[in-house]
Amino acid sequence: MTTKPKIAIILGTTRPTRFADKPAEWLMNIAKARDDATYEIVDLRDYPMPFFEEAGSPMFVPPQNAVALAWGRKVAEFDGYIFVTAEYNHSMPAVLKNALDYAYAEFGRKPATFVAYGGVGGARAVEQLRLVVAELHMTSLKHTVHIGATEFVGMLMQGKSFADYPYLDDAASMMLDHLAWWTNTLRAGRELAAVEPFDHQAALKAAGA
Ligand SMILES: Cc1cc2nc3c(=O)[nH]c(=O)nc-3n(C[C@H](O)[C@H](O)[C@H](O)COP(=O)(O)O)c2cc1C
Repeated sequence: MTTKPKIAIILGTTRPTRFADKPAEWLMNIAKARDDATYEIVDLRDYPMPFFEEAGSPMFVPPQNAVALAWGRKVAEFDGYIFVTAEYNHSMPAVLKNALDYAYAEFGRKPATFVAYGGVGGARAVEQLRLVVAELHMTSLKHTVHIGATEFVGMLMQGKSFADYPYLDDAASMMLDHLAWWTNTLRAGRELAAVEPFDHQAALKAAGA
């Protein structure tokens, strides 16, 4: 392992007036002061995929949509993921779920964690995201960052910033420490025993298609 691992900070909402940019930029500033990995912001606005309309799950059938293919190539570049997520109706934003549905092997055997915001720190979205990322063969971390009502309303409506809530920096640093360990550990594991590329034709044949 000669190169530093690459970690994506994925913005999980796309509304024109979204809050997501604030936590993503804040996290990026903390992350780029570290030397354990290279970090990159990946914005779902740059991957405007239709609601999933492919022939089958990317587990079996590679997507045809050109943007989805670009998204898959982008996802494959990274060794770990931090999803910056809101909570929409007690779950994850649909645009983020759609993006997760459009890739499969690219996420496999890599770690994922979350920076979430909302009335209860986006906790309900994160708990549901854990179920989804497990199905995509990711390992979700215990350590996450939750930006709760006090901080969220403070930044949204009272002119406050992350500097007013230094304990969030501590939570982010702890999350990044653990993510570095999981990223290196799973990358070493993938290098020891490479995952064979999924044989779509064999799977379709086995399914009788
Ligand atoms: C469709 C929708 C549903 C929402 N549902 C919740 C919710 O269940 N829990 C919550 O804490 N906030 C909820 N909110 C408020 C969001 O936390 C807030 O609008 C936040 O800024 C959304 O993230 P974004 O600005 O990055 O899109 C909801 C917002 C929208 C647009």
